[in-house]
Amino acid sequence: MPLLRSTFIALSRNRLLRRFGEQSRIGSRMSSRFVAGMEISDALRVAEAVNKQGMAVTLDALGESVTTDAEAQCAADVYHQLLDAIAERKMNANVSVKLTQMGLEQSPELARSIAENLARHASDAGSFLRIDMEGSALTQITLDIVRGIHAQPGLSGSIGVVIQAYLFRSQGDIEQLLSEGIRVRLCKGAYKEPAEVAFPRKDDVDSNYIRLSCMLLESPFYHGFATHDEAMIAAVKSYASQHRIEPSRFEFQMLFGVRRDLQHRLVREGYNVRVYIPFGREWYPYFMRRLAERPANVFFIAKNLLRK
Ligand code: FDA
Repeated sequence: MPLLRSTFIALSRNRLLRRFGEQSRIGSRMSSRFVAGMEISDALRVAEAVNKQGMAVTLDALGESVTTDAEAQCAADVYHQLLDAIAERKMNANVSVKLTQMGLEQSPELARSIAENLARHASDAGSFLRIDMEGSALTQITLDIVRGIHAQPGLSGSIGVVIQAYLFRSQGDIEQLLSEGIRVRLCKGAYKEPAEVAFPRKDDVDSNYIRLSCMLLESPFYHGFATHDEAMIAAVKSYASQHRIEPSRFEFQMLFGVRRDLQHRLVREGYNVRVYIPFGREWYPYFMRRLAERPANVFFIAKNLLRK
């Protein structure tokens, strides 16, 4: 399994395959398992349907690592349109953004200023800006940018970040974020990281996830537990009930198209659930990371393609 995971992560960076996948009909059919559609209107339609099922959403306009300022501004425009739509339609929704899509690798200052504008817009729209976490080379700069924006007048509480349980540094990062009142989404981590910075063994990642989730539950801020792992979910539920932490004080988050049965079960049990809804033409790296998490998805997708 670790070999398959590395293979899919390597494939997620393959440009030729990406170009073929994103431009072909078979590619868009395959991606529909995990991606809501290609256009903003597709994402809004799916998001409203998910809201009707009693779950919140976070919208992700797919795209990573832009190469020019203009591309970064274009990507930001899509998010501004989403925030306008969220306010107009009174949706239970926020947005998830990758800083590389906002130009982080060309100019951290550009990414920071775009993210600050988005956080202001989110705040005006009664929504929230979540900055996704990418590879470990970008962890520090991502946290610095989020902390800087959160400290701006009027923006505290409008922006939050993601912490990955596979990184050794995450406990220290959570301590700092909590001391500043910043909301966290805790996930296991989706990138390929060297053993110098991340736990190589799944058991260690899982134990760290549970340890970090207790720290978050103890804090007075509203956090998100992003996982489909029933053992992690059970640990969060059990810690919360033992410490009399109301289910309204946190949420579970899951990806669109993954474990819908579990999403609905948690809603029935009275937990807050948020579904992460990605959309857009640049779906390939996201899709490959989902296959890396569960290579059995390849067979699932192949079976569905043959059926249609
Ligand atoms: P794990 O991988 O151990 O899987 C547990 C079980 O869940 C599996 O046995 C399977 O049943 C099911 N499952 C998991 N993934 C599946 C899939 N793709 N298809 C079908 N079933 C699957 N990562 C990151 O590095 N930065 C980020 O910003 C984010 N953001 C984020 C937001 C949200 C809402 C979620 C849910 C996840 C992320 N992630 C992320 C991804 C995260 O780091 C991680 O790679 C995946 O969530 C898979 O880990 P699990 O916790 O689900 O457990």
